[in-house]
Order: sequence, then structure tokens, then C-alpha cells
Amino acid sequence: MNKYARSIELLNKAVGMEISTVLQYIYFFERCQDRGYELLAKFFRNTAIQEMQHIDKLSERILFLEGDIDMTPAFAVKQIHDVPEMLRLSQQLEATTIDDYNAWAKECGANADAVSHRLFEDLVKREEDHEDDFRTELDNVKTYDKHYMALQAIGHIKDLAAQKPEDDDDE
Ligand SMILES: [Fe+2]
Ligand SMILES: [Fe+2]
Repeated sequence: MNKYARSIELLNKAVGMEISTVLQYIYFFERCQDRGYELLAKFFRNTAIQEMQHIDKLSERILFLEGDIDMTPAFAVKQIHDVPEMLRLSQQLEATTIDDYNAWAKECGANADAVSHRLFEDLVKREEDHEDDFRTELDNVKTYDKHYMALQAIGHIKDLAAQKPEDDDDE
């Protein structure tokens, strides 16, 4: 019996959470991109990439402990179209992850696995930053309502306007 069996189990639970979170944020990225909400789309994409990096860190630790990586998503992606709802779910996801990682850090520490303990602690810091970002955007969407969405649309047209024409001899 691997003496780190419980750590491996917890690290794999985290992998499942991170995978689902990545997929959820990519879904939101695609939805926002399609609607021309460039800034929000980029924000979701960047956050998804950071969650992917968490999968990498967790997986490396699992393999180091001679476990195997379970790439099964923890939950199914929710098909949410409304921007405030997207931000609300994202904030909830981060809050749940923070609670779980705090508990799992403690458990790994109690099982004399200081490195997994520290890994979970480091990830809590990242997830707290994510939660803070989502909370800020959710507050902004509530405060500025239609103006917020208008700014998103302007982000899109700004990008389009910055594009160079492919065939423009006048310039
Ligand atoms: Fe994460
Ligand atoms: Fe996160």
C-alpha cells in the first residue's frame, strides 16, 4: 500500500475539479467571443489557462508519489448564456475550490505529506485571486449594467479597428 494513497486521492479529486473548471471557462470564453465581448472572453480564456497549469502541478505531484492521474471531470459543463450568471457560477466554483483545497492542505499535512500540503496552500492563493477577480466583475456588471456590456462590445470593435486591411493600397 502506497503510504501517500490518501494524498493521491485528494490530488486526483483536485485534478477532476480543475479539468471541469477549465472546460467551464472555455465554454464561457467561446460564448463571450461569439457575442463580441472581447475583454470578458480574454479574461475567461486566461483564467482557463491558469487552471490548466494547476492540473499540471497536481499531476506532477501525483506521478512523483507513484500514483496515476485520473483525468475524469468532476462535474458537467453548465450551458449558461447570461453574463452575470457566468460570473456568479465562476465565483461559486472558486469559493468551493478554496474550501476544498484548504481542507485538503490540512489533511495532507496531518498525513505527514508536507509538499502536497504546501501545493494545496499555494493553489488556494491562486484561487482566492480568481474569486476576487470574478467578484469584482460581478460587482461591476451589477453597478454599470448595460454600460458594462456596451464597454465589452466596444472592446470588440476596438480590436476590429486595430486590424490591418489585407489588401489596402491606399495606406
Ligand atoms: Fe485552479
Ligand atoms: Fe481558479
